[in-house]
Amino acid sequence: MKKIAIFASGSGSNAENIVNYFLSNENISIDLIITNKKDAYVIERAKKLNVNCLYFIKEDFYNSKVLDLLKERQIDFIILAGFLLLISKDIIAHFNNKILNIHPALLPKYGGKGMFGNNVHKTVLVNKEEKSGISIHLVNEKYDEGSIIFQADCDINADETIQSLAQKIHSLEHKYFPDIIKNYILNFSL
Ligand code: GRF
Repeated sequence: MKKIAIFASGSGSNAENIVNYFLSNENISIDLIITNKKDAYVIERAKKLNVNCLYFIKEDFYNSKVLDLLKERQIDFIILAGFLLLISKDIIAHFNNKILNIHPALLPKYGGKGMFGNNVHKTVLVNKEEKSGISIHLVNEKYDEGSIIFQADCDINADETIQSLAQKIHSLEHKYFPDIIKNYILNFSL
């Protein structure tokens, strides 16, 4: 059984979707959710889903606390689902090629520090792009620069708003992310 830890800083709709997807999987389980925000809605979702959810202050992601916990619980893979902190070198070294992130745009455009949530959608609309989409990628020491393993796109309409685009992107994320995680982990382990 491969064990996943999900890191999330916000609402956690992706985290919830991933938890539900793997409930009946015999090879992969969601061991816990970790957040860096005391009031993140993902904590409520985790309670309802009956999944262990732990809050850590920012510093603990850079000293050994979070890494020690991940080792102790024998976590195999980390999934970043709306997680806003840069992952530490130590965690990246320990989980070499075993951390996946989802980004709400078509990288390499619209990535990097500050490019998260609605900031991304706003910039995409200001630049009058005809398409946006999602990118699922491996995580390295730089924001949004690891190898891309999957992308899906959507059209941007003339009357598109930040909210309507955010909704389209969330639908793509919910549709594809769990499957991509499953395939990546199962192939990795072969
Ligand atoms: C998603 O759009 C994800 O791509 C981005 O943050 C958002 C998180 O949404 N990194 P949610 O918290 O899973 O609802």
